Amino acid sequence: MSAPLLARGVELARDAGLAERVSFERGDVNDLPFEDDVFDWAWSADCVGYYREAPFPALRELARVVKPRGTVALLAWSSEQLLPGYPELEARLKATAAGLAPFARGMPPSRHFSRALEWFGELGLEEAGISTFAGDAHAPLTDEFREALTALLEMRWPGAEEELTAEERAEFKRLAYAASPDFVLNDPAYYAFFTYSMFWGKVPA
Ligand SMILES: C[S@@+](CC[C@H](N)C(=O)[O-])C[C@H]1O[C@@H](n2cnc3c(N)ncnc32)[C@H](O)[C@@H]1O
Repeated sequence: MSAPLLARGVELARDAGLAERVSFERGDVNDLPFEDDVFDWAWSADCVGYYREAPFPALRELARVVKPRGTVALLAWSSEQLLPGYPELEARLKATAAGLAPFARGMPPSRHFSRALEWFGELGLEEAGISTFAGDAHAPLTDEFREALTALLEMRWPGAEEELTAEERAEFKRLAYAASPDFVLNDPAYYAFFTYSMFWGKVPA
């Protein structure tokens, strides 16, 4: 539903020579602008999965527009390591409100993306499956990776510093701030990974 990201999608499809084959439609995944049973499959990339509430009606909408025996899939980020060599600091950051988001303390476990199998079960989707995909980044970083990781380090833990001790905060600033001489991306042995998990199921006949 983000106009700038949609425009970027249109641009990428055009540059790849796919303008005739790919179309874009703006809409709310909770209320899709399509009839029932029209698609062979539907998937949500990096969108449904970050819900604080159980991902209904979004998932129900995806299932509604897919034909019987068609597939519905959800892909979302599921883990990462961004501060190699500092597992304690990274564990602390992951335990902050920002680190846990969109999950929040006190939420029922069933709202966490790692439990999406339950969501498929609740909707009566069949033959559920899961695959996890891993991405790596390591020194020497390409400009593109460096830019993406710098942005990720800036946005991953907003407000987390308030939950850290003074010592942890100093360590965080030393490693995760781009202006720091010890910025972790300058480490000649830098290595990061992140995983995305995909859950899928079939619409019953
Ligand atoms: C992390 S981006 C992923 C974009 C794209 N799917 C991709 O994989 O590159 C998440 C996108 O979900 C969109 N979004 C969030 N809530 C939505 C909703 N209820 N309906 C439609 N799009 C939504 C945001 O506008 C944003 O563009």
